[in-house]
Amino acid sequence: MMLKKILGVDLGTDTTQVYLKGVGIVLNEPSIVAFNNRTQRVVAVGREAKKMLSRTPSHVTALRPIMNGVIADFDMAKEMVQRFLKNKTLPWSWLTEVVVSISTNLTEVERKSVEDLFREVGVGKVYMIEEPIAAALGSGLDIGAPTAHLVVDIGAGTTDMAIISINGLVVSKRLKIAGDHFNQEIIHGVKDEMKLFIGEPTAEEIKIAVGAAVPQTEKLDISVRGRDAVSGLPKEVNVRDTQVRYWLLKSLKTMTEALKELIDVTPPELVGDIYRNGVYLSGGGSMLRGMQQLFEKEIGVNVHGVDEPLICVVRGIGLIAENTSFYTNILHSFSSSSIIRL
Ligand SMILES: Nc1ncnc2c1ncn2[C@@H]1O[C@H](COP(=O)(O)OP(=O)(O)O)[C@@H](O)[C@H]1O
Ligand SMILES: [Mg+2]
Repeated sequence: MMLKKILGVDLGTDTTQVYLKGVGIVLNEPSIVAFNNRTQRVVAVGREAKKMLSRTPSHVTALRPIMNGVIADFDMAKEMVQRFLKNKTLPWSWLTEVVVSISTNLTEVERKSVEDLFREVGVGKVYMIEEPIAAALGSGLDIGAPTAHLVVDIGAGTTDMAIISINGLVVSKRLKIAGDHFNQEIIHGVKDEMKLFIGEPTAEEIKIAVGAAVPQTEKLDISVRGRDAVSGLPKEVNVRDTQVRYWLLKSLKTMTEALKELIDVTPPELVGDIYRNGVYLSGGGSMLRGMQQLFEKEIGVNVHGVDEPLICVVRGIGLIAENTSFYTNILHSFSSSSIIRL
């Protein structure tokens, strides 16, 4: 039996990842719960529950307890986290501490809800860190340096933008437009233009196969099946990259505008740093084709994609989990709350 167990958790809208100190990433599962309305019981969580998404019988609901970076359904989120953390592959310990990443600009109540959740599943100590800081750490940026870094994390539910300098957030912004929203726009586009109803998994498939933020040199297309909006019968259509780009135009514009606004309120010295250091894109949403080029064109600075954008946040949390005392020391000099402001 181990005395003390330290975990790092990225409780994402799309995916939950767990890092175990001394071991590495031990869990990577969809943040989904399947719930049986008849028995009022959770049937499955994670990968098992994802298989049920959009295909559930009427008495089973597959839902995402985390929405837009906040806990939307406390009981379901708790049950999900409980099942993840009581996983057979994780050792059991009386003393469990957790470092969890949170979205930027959460209210006190939303933050408290994250803390309560982990406490109620038996965690003794809960540290929190804002997602962009974790992403920056996980991308190997020297965030303690007296120079500013701009990190944009595009997840499923939110885009978190932050300027980080000397271990802290200088300015930050959270936008409820990210990967999920892209899928919704694709669902609408396919319905309006092609008169076809498709579900979220198909929209996701289209996005990954042919989605693009800027015009592509190579033509891309994908055929997908759904229900004809008029006849109600099954139908197959061909979706092209140019169509998807058009459907995503508005969301992408909102994103780049938000980033411009953030830079607008940043102190000039730091803007100079950003110009030198560039912008770092992390999160699964940043994997959309041409995302880097779009930001480069709109913002006019170099844009770097981080290594392995889907796991860079949990990697950053992992670095903290490995050396909590080092980071806690910094914490004491920066903040009086339990939020780690590095
Ligand atoms: N190749 C890809 N192209 C575009 N979007 C992608 C790709 N791979 C994953 N995504 C999107 O990334 C999002 C999940 O990113 P992630 O950083 O794991 O989110 P979260 O932290 O909110 O759980 C989803 O919306 C998913 O559709
Ligand atoms: Mg994330």
